[in-house]
Amino acid sequence: MAETYQFTVNGEARSIEADGAMPLIYALRNELGLTGTRYGCGLEQCGSCMVLIDGVPGYACTQGMDAVAGREIQTIESLSAEGGTEAAPHPLQQAFLDEQAGQCGYCLSGILISAKALLDKNPDPSRADIVAALEGHLCRCGAHTRIIKAIGRAAAVLRGEGAV
Ligand code: FES
Ligand code: FES
Repeated sequence: MAETYQFTVNGEARSIEADGAMPLIYALRNELGLTGTRYGCGLEQCGSCMVLIDGVPGYACTQGMDAVAGREIQTIESLSAEGGTEAAPHPLQQAFLDEQAGQCGYCLSGILISAKALLDKNPDPSRADIVAALEGHLCRCGAHTRIIKAIGRAAAVLRGEGAV
């Protein structure tokens, strides 16, 4: 039976009528028009649906509305809210462009979200830290090396050291 669920998405209070078991990704994409979050496996195995839930990466494909009620969700669109636009991308987005860190791009929304969570808590991650943060993500194009390099580059820019 549908109920009303209230939560915050990218800093805005939102209210959705839904079944409690409906996955968060359906609310984001179909109800709120936030289509940057991508559906892949639906089984917590690919990471393409990753969002931040109270600042921690979580799978939007399996978190039901009853699990996210009252919580704060950040999607890939939140990078734009932090100043990233096509003309002036967020430093993470710019680093991915500079390193050409992607081919089809399907995995990148989720990877950027996990990268943001990493850099928010660890501004100077080692390569091993970056690899660990990407544990829950698959990139079928095999762009891993450039993705890791791009996250290191973004970290340096955000520390004010310029690109490395
Ligand atoms: S779609 Fe959620 S982990 Fe693959
Ligand atoms: S760039 Fe294609 S799946 Fe990662």
